[in-house]
Amino acid sequence: MTMRRWAAGAVACVSALAAAVPQHAGAQDKPRKKDAAPASSAPAAKKPEAVDYGQRFAALCASCHGANGRSDMAGTPVLAGQPSLYSITQLFLFREGRRSNQPMTAVAKTLSDDDMRGFADYIGTLPPVPAPAAATPPDAARMARGRSLAEQHKCLFCHGPNLDGGQQVPRIAGQKEEYLQESLRGFKSGTRAAYTQAMVSAVSQVSVEDLDTLAYYAARFPGGPAGAK
Ligand code: HEC
Ligand code: HEC
Repeated sequence: MTMRRWAAGAVACVSALAAAVPQHAGAQDKPRKKDAAPASSAPAAKKPEAVDYGQRFAALCASCHGANGRSDMAGTPVLAGQPSLYSITQLFLFREGRRSNQPMTAVAKTLSDDDMRGFADYIGTLPPVPAPAAATPPDAARMARGRSLAEQHKCLFCHGPNLDGGQQVPRIAGQKEEYLQESLRGFKSGTRAAYTQAMVSAVSQVSVEDLDTLAYYAARFPGGPAGAK
């Protein structure tokens, strides 16, 4: 059955993830290849026409996600600053109909494996975009509570001390609050499909109220949205 294969795959992924976790922080600081040149000098005539995923992103994705990876469209996550490996796993989940969202699934169904890689790699080159300035400063007590929850529940351990993710772990610093809230609640209730069990177990012991505080904190992460990178 599909579910069994999926579960077996997930177990393998979790072990791989556990092994990779300590390197996550800063992993995305590595320079990314923009236009990887072929290593060998194969005859130019045989080289397939290169697809410009920057152009395709502008044409197919920017209407919802914004040309720079951050739009104001409600419910649409910020892609800017998201590691390529994370994006490709999510595109895969959408394409396979595991993670479901009508508009996004419709887009993903049209993508080949090469397209998923091309778009994910392009997303990986988009620098983080600061959140628009908020009308009111963050509530200090709520931020402090968010910080201690993020330590207690190891969010910082996997997502990195700057919550900027790396490899298959997403950046959550500066992500839209309502989207974070919905994602966290979804992992807990099972409505958001996960690629591995990492998030499902991370939130299983956290109350919905605390998840909302974590969403509040990550969205306003100090140094995240407007931060150094
Ligand atoms: C019609 C609007 C729309 C278009 C067009 C669109 N997306 Fe999305 N995308 C969404 C929405 C909405 C979500 C969040 C879905 C959810 O909440 O599960 C999303 C989620 C994603 C995610 C997961 C982000 C995360 O943080 O988990 C990725 C990656 C993504 N889109 C990439 C793309 C790419 C690449 C394209 C173009 C090929 C594209 N999207 C086109 C609306 C769109
Ligand atoms: C064991 C490592 C691990 C821990 C601990 C962890 N995460 Fe995650 N997180 C992940 C991975 C991996 C993903 C990608 C989810 C997937 O598709 O399976 C993720 C995804 C997310 C997402 C979805 C982001 C998006 O763009 O859609 C949010 C929000 C999130 N984590 C917040 C948290 C919070 C808050 C905590 C602490 C309660 C936490 N995480 C703890 C590894 C972890």
